[in-house]
Amino acid sequence: MDHTSGMLSPDSLKGKTIIVTGGGTGLGKSMGSYFSELGANLVITSRKIEVLEKTAEEIKGKSGGEVLCTACDVREYEQVEKVIEQAKEKFGGVDVLLNNAAGNFISPTERLSNRAFDTVVDIVLKGSYNFTLAMGKDWIDNKQTGTILNIVTTYAWTGSGYVVPSACAKSGVLAMTRSLAVEWAKYGIRSNAIAPGPFPTEGAWDRLLPGDLKKKYDPAKKVPLGRVGDHQELANLAAYLVSDYSSYINGEVITIDGGEWLKGAGEFNQLEAIPEELWDAMEMGRKKGGSKLKMMWLYFKGMRKLKL
Ligand code: HXC
Ligand code: NAP
Repeated sequence: MDHTSGMLSPDSLKGKTIIVTGGGTGLGKSMGSYFSELGANLVITSRKIEVLEKTAEEIKGKSGGEVLCTACDVREYEQVEKVIEQAKEKFGGVDVLLNNAAGNFISPTERLSNRAFDTVVDIVLKGSYNFTLAMGKDWIDNKQTGTILNIVTTYAWTGSGYVVPSACAKSGVLAMTRSLAVEWAKYGIRSNAIAPGPFPTEGAWDRLLPGDLKKKYDPAKKVPLGRVGDHQELANLAAYLVSDYSSYINGEVITIDGGEWLKGAGEFNQLEAIPEELWDAMEMGRKKGGSKLKMMWLYFKGMRKLKL
């Protein structure tokens, strides 16, 4: 057993119906696939029906579970309502909503057109509130409890240059998560979020960092644990957060990034680059009676390694 193994016991999600937006590819596909393995009825939705159909077949083949796939643009409220209706028709009700669909591109903000800005904010923020509102109304009208899980990013609270529409939208989704955790708790509706660090996917990585950019800005190098995330690690966390095991967790955002965002935030974290020889030289310098010659030798050796 390690971080690439499933964590929950079989049947942990048995009888639950779970909608995953953006469930045909990347992380949505991995989370949905694990939910299905754990006994959930799965509903996957995004714009491209051919992609969804292929994923549904793959998941059914692996888990033997029921998977409904239906095309929907999360920006269109009527299409969102239709997905919920179809899910209810097939499975009798919905228990969990996972807002995972997203759009993003990397660009200096001043180069973006207003329509480009709209596109990302509409997919991420409007798409998430469209689904949340439609699902929440349905649960409340039918006196049914439910669980919402939103996928954000760590720059939802730090902000980030070059992905400004995404940062604005994800921070809105985080605000919605925390707001509804309180407002809708009285209806038995929980709201939580996951903030993933770098997890390789075609959508995020090949599109955002094409070609050699991925080599130059290797995301693993920014992670204190020295590696990127494995999809199963995220699927384990998501499965726990939508299961009844986490029924006292509400309004939380859980970061799963190997320490990445804190590394960028801590004032002196860059001192990691300092070689041992330089630390030794500094230590000798503050202690009495050490060899000055050795200290100087360590100092120059350290500085040479640092290339200063
Ligand atoms: C600047 C761009 C652009 C780009 C499109 N536009 N791509 N502007 N840079 N790379 C502009 C277009 O010129 C147009 O404006 C407007 O955006 C709409 O473009 P469309 O192609 O019509 O939009 P649409 O078909 O809706 O496509 C949406 C998309 C696309 C976001 C552009 O990339 C997509 O479908 N992405 C889904 C997958 C994805 O992005 N996944 C990544 C999630 S990762 P004008 O003015 O010309 O009309 C993530 C977190 C990563 O969110 C964190 C990593 C650690
Ligand atoms: P991805 O494979 O590109 O997933 C995005 C999904 O959203 C696609 O399946 C796409 O399907 C769907 N989508 C886009 N626009 C849509 C729309 N208008 N309506 C409905 N569906 C739409 O990328 P990913 O890396 O797995 O990202 C999944 C989530 O994790 C996103 O919320 C992302 O922000 C978050 N995240 C990822 C990383 C990472 O390192 N991978 C890090 C932090 C956060 P269609 O094209 O078929 O519509």
